[in-house]
Amino acid sequence: MSEFITSEVQDRVLLIRIQRPEKKNALLMDMYSTMTEILAEAGDDARIRAICITGTGDVFTSGNDLTDFQRNPPTDLDSPVMVFLRTVASVSKPLLAAVNGVAVGVGTTMLLHCDLVYASPNARFQLPFVNLGLVPEAASSLLLPRLIGHQRAAELLYLGKMFDAHTAANLGLVNEITPLNDLLTKTLEVAREVAAKPPAAMRITKRLLKSNRDELLERIDLEAGHFADQLGSPEVAEALRAFLEKRPPDFSRFE
Ligand code: COA
Repeated sequence: MSEFITSEVQDRVLLIRIQRPEKKNALLMDMYSTMTEILAEAGDDARIRAICITGTGDVFTSGNDLTDFQRNPPTDLDSPVMVFLRTVASVSKPLLAAVNGVAVGVGTTMLLHCDLVYASPNARFQLPFVNLGLVPEAASSLLLPRLIGHQRAAELLYLGKMFDAHTAANLGLVNEITPLNDLLTKTLEVAREVAAKPPAAMRITKRLLKSNRDELLERIDLEAGHFADQLGSPEVAEALRAFLEKRPPDFSRFE
């Protein structure tokens, strides 16, 4: 179990917190594994009827730890990242997110698998995969154009720029913007409301809403193959070197 992930159950709601603020809640392999374990157990635990995920400090999560990409590259389908993504795509109970700040990479793509997303006004979102020499993950190449249309998805994925909470709400990625001070309270309130509903009806409704699960899992694996290939590329090496050296990357020499 990772020390950077905490969880607690209250009023039939499981709250998962990402807590590594000194590294902007960047996710390490054992953090993914811990979240996977918690989510899997929650699926079997009848006391839990809704799940809420949030960050700490001023960040939701800055995505995969970039130094871990080199130490523990997720190059096979059993890697902790891949297992986590498949688990998030398969959660059978309502999944809520309280996005309390920056949400980069998987911080944004996991929201595509959440049912209800609340964000504070300071939340910012980014899909920087191409900037890093990488490709979309978590079936975002399928879910994002479906949610917002091809051109807007292409803009977010090709340019990889940060976008703010209002843009995310207008795009339909966020249900509602809530002041940071009230964000978790409000999200947990909604989670409790959901948890008080008839559980079987809720389960079936979620299953119906997510009836494209097999298609999502197939896309997650397809993306993962390209992701793994790119991880070993000189493009990624340059992007990671640039991040560590705190300078802009230079992709001009690549074909
Ligand atoms: N992996 C590893 N370390 C990370 C990280 C990540 N994804 N995101 C932030 N950090 C570290 C920084 O290296 C820095 O460490 P240091 O204090 O030892 O130098 C610390 O967290 C603080 O980050 P900093 O960049 O100074 O904070 P900021 O508020 O200026 O910017 C972000 C926050 C999230 C916008 C910025 O850190 C960022 O863009 N991170 C990379 C995000 C990314 O590309 N994720 C991969 C997605 S696939």
